[in-house]
Amino acid sequence: MQVRVHETAEVSPLAEVGAGTAVWHQAQIREGARVGEDCVIGKGAYIDLQVQIGNRVKVQNGAMVYRGVTVEDGAFIGPLACLANDRYPRAITPEGTRKIEGDWEVGRVVIRRGASIGASAVVLPDVEVGEHAMVAAGAVVSKDVPPQGLVMGNPARLVGYVCLCGRRLLEDPVGQWRCVNCGRDYRLEALPGSL
Ligand SMILES: CC(C)(COP(=O)(O)OP(=O)(O)OC[C@H]1O[C@@H](n2cnc3c(N)ncnc32)[C@H](O)[C@@H]1OP(=O)(O)O)[C@@H](O)C(=O)NCCC(=O)NCCS
Ligand SMILES: [Zn+2]
Repeated sequence: MQVRVHETAEVSPLAEVGAGTAVWHQAQIREGARVGEDCVIGKGAYIDLQVQIGNRVKVQNGAMVYRGVTVEDGAFIGPLACLANDRYPRAITPEGTRKIEGDWEVGRVVIRRGASIGASAVVLPDVEVGEHAMVAAGAVVSKDVPPQGLVMGNPARLVGYVCLCGRRLLEDPVGQWRCVNCGRDYRLEALPGSL
C-alpha cells in the first residue's frame, strides 16, 4: 500500500513513514521520526525529531508529539493533544542566553498499545499511559495511567476502567468487570486493583 502525503505536508527525507499511512494537510514529520504502517497523521499535526509511532495509530488534527515520545500500535492521539517533553521549560539559561541542545533534558512519554488521549489533553514528561487506557478530553496527566484506566481532570485522577471498545466498565459484586456496550468481561486480577 502506498504512503499518501498531502502536498502541503512536510515529511523530512530523514523520516520513515510506513505503507498505507496518510499524512494530511500541513502536518510535519521531522528528521529521524518513524511512523508505522496504516496510520493517519491529521491536519497540522507535529511529529518531532526521533519520535517513534507504531502501526494503525491515529494522530488527530493539531496534535503535538514531541521528541522523547513513543506511541505504540493502535493508539489514538486526540485533536490538539500535547505530549510534552520538557518538565522545567525555560527559553533562556539563568545567564540569559538562549537555551540550546544540552541545556535541557528530554523527558520520556510512552503511550502504550491501544490507549486513547482525549482532545486537548496534556501528557506531562516521564509519564506512561497504559495499554487501552483512556485519557479524558482536557485532562492534564501528571502520573502513570494503569492499563485500561480512565483518567480525567487537572490533575488527572483515576476514576474507572474502560473496555477495549472504549466504554466504561462496571464492577459486579463478585469482582468481575463488565462492559454493558459490548458484553466483554474482565477478571479483577487482570486489572490493577479496584478503585
Ligand atoms: C472521559 C469520557 C470517556 C467519559 O465518558 P462517559 O463515561 O460517557 O462519561 P459521562 O459523559 O457519563 O460523564 C461522567 C461524569 O464525568 C464528567 N466528565 C465527562 N468527561 C469529562 C472530561 N473530559 N473531563 C472532566 N470531566 C468529565 C461528566 O461531566 C460527568 O460528571 P458528573 O458525574 O459530575 O455528572 C468522555 O467524556 C471523554 O472525555 N472522551 C474523550 C472525547 C475526545 O476527546 N475525543 C477525541 C476525538 S474528537
Ligand atoms: Zn466494550
